[in-house]
Amino acid sequence: MAHAEDVEVLHWWTSGGEAAALNVLKDDLAAQGIGWVDMPVAGGGGEAAMTTLRARVTAGDPPTAVQMLGFDIQDWAELGALANLDDVANAEGWDGVVPEALQRFSKYDGHWIAAPVNVHSTNWVWANKKVLDELGIAQPQTWDEFVAAMQKVKDSGKTALAHGGQAWQDATLFDGVVLSVGGVDFYKKALIDLDPEALGSDQMKEVFDRMTVLRGFVDDNFSGRDWNLASAMVINGDAAFQIMGDWAKGEFLKAGDVPDQDFLCFRVPGTAGMVSFNSDQFAMFKVKDPAAQDAQKAMASAIMSPKFQSAFNVVKGSVPARTDVPNDAFDACGKKGMADLAEASANGTLVGSMAHGHANRAAVKNAMYDVITAQFNGEYDSATAVEELVTAVQDAQ
Ligand code: GAL
Repeated sequence: MAHAEDVEVLHWWTSGGEAAALNVLKDDLAAQGIGWVDMPVAGGGGEAAMTTLRARVTAGDPPTAVQMLGFDIQDWAELGALANLDDVANAEGWDGVVPEALQRFSKYDGHWIAAPVNVHSTNWVWANKKVLDELGIAQPQTWDEFVAAMQKVKDSGKTALAHGGQAWQDATLFDGVVLSVGGVDFYKKALIDLDPEALGSDQMKEVFDRMTVLRGFVDDNFSGRDWNLASAMVINGDAAFQIMGDWAKGEFLKAGDVPDQDFLCFRVPGTAGMVSFNSDQFAMFKVKDPAAQDAQKAMASAIMSPKFQSAFNVVKGSVPARTDVPNDAFDACGKKGMADLAEASANGTLVGSMAHGHANRAAVKNAMYDVITAQFNGEYDSATAVEELVTAVQDAQ
């Protein structure tokens, strides 16, 4: 039974690493007397959670706080469903410490409507160090070296690339591959500006060609596999690599693994200096009860505290959503993630992740997902996929 001073939190953090991070948040709120009513909806990337959210809102019973990504936040704000957090944000000076790239999603019409808890990024590779050492494989620096390394692993009988065949996971690979083929300019033109020329270009064909190469390094049982089970294959040494956002690090840490010693984290070869980011934010749905509103504000404030941002993100695998949090508590991958984010943000090489709702609204994202997944599963050759992508994106706008 929920009390007014409780928050009911809808989220999709159900894997081992995610749940560990969620506990940091639960404990932090509990210490402040805010009760927690858990509403988990399993499913990486949050698609299932967003379906549940729509049903709850339609039924007139929205949860008080919801984990959300990018353009989904803007969509709910546009419908007038989200509470205004300006009081807390102004009192605590969020404007001065939250990077612009995040504010673009945390604010609507100039008002704060979400509290960002982290910054993840998708163009990472996670590798089992022991497997690489045994096979004499050095950390690949270029795309060709990466392909050669995967071939060596495959020849040894192990799985080269741990992957789960779910649309959002295929799309997560796609984020990194687009950056590796055409860099930030091409990524922006194709995935953010939706320029038909870029979407239909030879470079895009090259992207699909690389997706086919990756598909050749995935094991036979990949269909439908959850991302954290793919991470487990790397952790157990059954597979060498996984291309996945840095939430994967949460799984390695949960298993007791240490960066540089047990596993390696490096950018998708060909994407050094570039970051495709997504930020988990908590949006508060409008509620009438003043005590419930106070609980929402207290939760938003707790999320934004620098101490909490450090404690939470150390466990989650992400980096803080504010620029003034020291990196002392972070491991080597976390420190690199923080440095990469600052550098990309200064150099204009920070882009929103298409796969995780930070490049375009859900309709366009889903249209891209369909083509990417169909091509990955061999339904289209690269040339057809390019044509389908142009049409699908056009129809979705
Ligand atoms: C992402 C989310 C991450 C992570 C991942 C897998 O969309 O931003 O926090 O949990 O999904 O569930």
